[in-house]
Amino acid sequence: MTTPRLTISHLSKSFDGRQVVNDVSLSVMPGQVTCLLGPSGCGKSTTLRAVAGVERPDSGEIHVDGVMVCDQTTMIPPEDRSIGLMFQDFALFPHLDVAANVAFGLKGRKADMRGQVENLLKRVGMLRHIDRYPHELSGGEQQRVALARALAPKPKVMLMDEPFSGLDDRLRDDIRDETLEVLKDAGAAVLLVTHEPAEAMRMADEIALMRAGRIVQRGAPYNIYNTPVDLKAAQFFSDINVIKGTVEGALTETPFGQFLAPGVPDGTQVDICIRPQHLKIDFDRGGRGPLPTPADGTPARGVVKRARFMGSESLVEFVMDFDGSTLKTQVPSVFLPKPGTPLWLMIRRDRCFVFPAGGA
Ligand SMILES: Nc1ncnc2c1ncn2[C@@H]1O[C@H](COP(=O)(O)OP(=O)(O)OP(=O)(O)O)[C@@H](O)[C@H]1O
Ligand SMILES: [Mg+2]
Repeated sequence: MTTPRLTISHLSKSFDGRQVVNDVSLSVMPGQVTCLLGPSGCGKSTTLRAVAGVERPDSGEIHVDGVMVCDQTTMIPPEDRSIGLMFQDFALFPHLDVAANVAFGLKGRKADMRGQVENLLKRVGMLRHIDRYPHELSGGEQQRVALARALAPKPKVMLMDEPFSGLDDRLRDDIRDETLEVLKDAGAAVLLVTHEPAEAMRMADEIALMRAGRIVQRGAPYNIYNTPVDLKAAQFFSDINVIKGTVEGALTETPFGQFLAPGVPDGTQVDICIRPQHLKIDFDRGGRGPLPTPADGTPARGVVKRARFMGSESLVEFVMDFDGSTLKTQVPSVFLPKPGTPLWLMIRRDRCFVFPAGGA
């Protein structure tokens, strides 16, 4: 079995008596990207700083390629950890040109360095700008130089803290994909911090979802998105509709029909949760909706409250006849119903999550 490039075990850190990192454990294999994803203030950067060696944890251990770099008694300095850093304010040295910025991380003879610097810049597509100064580069170009600089010492682990947040959307997508390619190619283990679910899903082999200092769920983006551990985890990725119900005989009766709740005791209140794109819409046929099906349950009628055109899709909000609550749907944008239109909604059974009530 391959040794993980990075292993974090039971890492904890408090500031002024408040625990901001709470028993965090994870590992990253060579060439893999793990995203620490979570809301602002949940402890992502603090975790990363502890791995980098610029923050001393209260407890826990960190290994790089099987070598212990931090525990209760040992604290290897940052420069000896074989870790590359790329942070949001990645600041290149303004008085050095591109070549000198990249060479900064290299050790060895000057003559050998030029070749290495050229190779690195070629890899990030910046060789033609080798003689420029940072102020002569765009934000995206600076980012690429910063990546080349971080890769120069061939780190085993690359830590990235919201490295793309200064870039506009289109450029960011390109730079993300290019960066990922270069990092995978270099075989480094990447721990990337972000509070954006879209960025995490695009970049990560594995997402570690963090909340209030703890990792609440770990898994491939597909699994985290499709089998969230609780309502909050589901809500972190999109709007969520919640339909309330009570379990009786392993079933929950709702206006959308019955939902299975195996093993849940009678009388338990549950939230049936569904993402807006997993509601189906159908036409009103003189006050009647489509026939119930096993896959989509019973239709319930609602009236369009608001419909917004978003390009590839429309967001349509309904006020439901059964209790006046609002449900949000996301449908292909060829469909943009007028406010006041009565329509019928159905819930895709295979896409809903059932959680005990009161989770968020
Ligand atoms: N040196 C410090 N002294 C005191 N409190 C700190 C210190 N560093 C961080 N904190 C606090 O610890 C908590 C976690 O901070 P951290 O920077 O790890 O959050 P984050 O998840 O990276 O958030 P963001 O997405 O906003 O960057 C915050 O409440 C922050 O105020
Ligand atoms: Mg942070």
